[in-house]
Amino acid sequence: MLTDDTSWLLVAEDAVQTPIATLRFDRLDDLPDSFEVSITLAPSVRGEGWSPIVLASGEDWLRAHEPVATIVAAVRASNAASLHLFISAGYSLDSQTADLVTLSKRFTQSQAEQ
Ligand SMILES: CC(C)(COP(=O)(O)OP(=O)(O)OC[C@H]1O[C@@H](n2cnc3c(N)ncnc32)[C@H](O)[C@@H]1OP(=O)(O)O)[C@@H](O)C(=O)NCCC(=O)NCCS
Repeated sequence: MLTDDTSWLLVAEDAVQTPIATLRFDRLDDLPDSFEVSITLAPSVRGEGWSPIVLASGEDWLRAHEPVATIVAAVRASNAASLHLFISAGYSLDSQTADLVTLSKRFTQSQAEQ
């Protein structure tokens, strides 16, 4: 994990500790308690079902550090796999243009205490 005050870069590894993905959270200055997520899987493991696992692990990590948080995903409208990933993971549609879709998922303190 690489970190500074405003962003975290998490690296996911498979069972034999080969890096397979990065997940980054960048704090958004203009929205309180909000973090933009970006996920990138190594090309060699795409389509193998890793993306929801990596995303969920990253969300768990973020919640352990920021129990009240909104995660924002800005996805190119043409990126069907990414859109499917975030919608399946429970992200809600916030806005949509021809090029860009913005989705978000909010975690609250009461959820964090469950
Ligand atoms: C986006 C990314 C993380 C997705 O990971 P992936 O392993 O390629 O995704 P998958 O092949 O598992 O597809 C994810 C889901 O989208 C679906 N999907 C894939 N291509 C699709 C398409 N063309 N149309 C509709 N659904 C599609 C898959 O069926 C899967 O759904 P499921 O989980 O219900 O089976 C990966 O492609 C990546 O790293 N891309 C480059 C970086 C990027 O674009 N990041 C996103 C911006 S934050």
